[in-house]
Amino acid sequence: IQVENIVVIGHSRCGGIKGLMSIPEDGTTASDFIEEWVQIGNPAKSKVKAEAGYLSFSELCTNCEKESVNVSLGNLLTYPFVRDQVVKKKLALKGAHYDFVNGTFELWDLDFKFSPSVTN
Ligand SMILES: *[C@@H]1O[C@H](CO)[C@@H](O)[C@H](O)[C@H]1NC(C)=O
Ligand SMILES: *[C@@H]1O[C@H](CO)[C@@H](O)[C@H](O)[C@H]1NC(C)=O
Repeated sequence: IQVENIVVIGHSRCGGIKGLMSIPEDGTTASDFIEEWVQIGNPAKSKVKAEAGYLSFSELCTNCEKESVNVSLGNLLTYPFVRDQVVKKKLALKGAHYDFVNGTFELWDLDFKFSPSVTN
């Protein structure tokens, strides 16, 4: 059996994530250059703020960079072909975060706990 991997990698000081985290909650847009695609990360933003809103802005950004990776992995699972291969263990989905400030690389497996749609 040939196991293939898909690795979604986030990185530190991500300008897109910083832009996302800077959008005010009241719906007014902080800056015009924030691209539509960044807003795809809104579920990640809501989650990190709900779980640890007391953290500093830069810590929230780091968590959001990682959580956005998790959201992307979850989105990949909505494709029947991907889900099918994952369930059959022919495909492994992994998340990663590269911190180029500290020079660290964190790699994690998709945790099925957070993906109820993949339980069988
Ligand atoms: C680098 O690592 C230190 C210690 O683990 C941590 O406090 C800091 O937030 C990290 N830097 C970044 C940019 O994540
Ligand atoms: C991303 O998912 C991994 C494994 O599913 C989990 O351990 C980690 O806490 C998640 N990251 C964030 C920032 O929620």
